[in-house]
Amino acid sequence: MDKQKIEICLAAKCKGRGAGAVAALIDGKYENTASISKTIECFGCCGVGPNVIVEGRMMHQVYPEDALLRIEEELRGERKEKPSLGSKALDDLDSFLDAL
Ligand code: FES
Repeated sequence: MDKQKIEICLAAKCKGRGAGAVAALIDGKYENTASISKTIECFGCCGVGPNVIVEGRMMHQVYPEDALLRIEEELRGERKEKPSLGSKALDDLDSFLDAL
């Protein structure tokens, strides 16, 4: 079985928001199931960091307090994303805005 892939942004803004602590938490934690890549190349969404990509899916605001729980949910494909404007398809925006 191929290992799943976890990427963590360790560029300045994510690091300043706790990405280093998140990286320390996942170090060695998934060595049998996932490959972990730490990069200093910004993912381009610094304002909502720390950012982690699990199997190509971006996760925002991954803070040390709940990082392992959220990453494990994502690895299992069970992410529970809060509904927000940013997660809506353009076709769904009208009904979302009407509900506000
Ligand atoms: S610093 Fe991490 S996304 Fe920009």
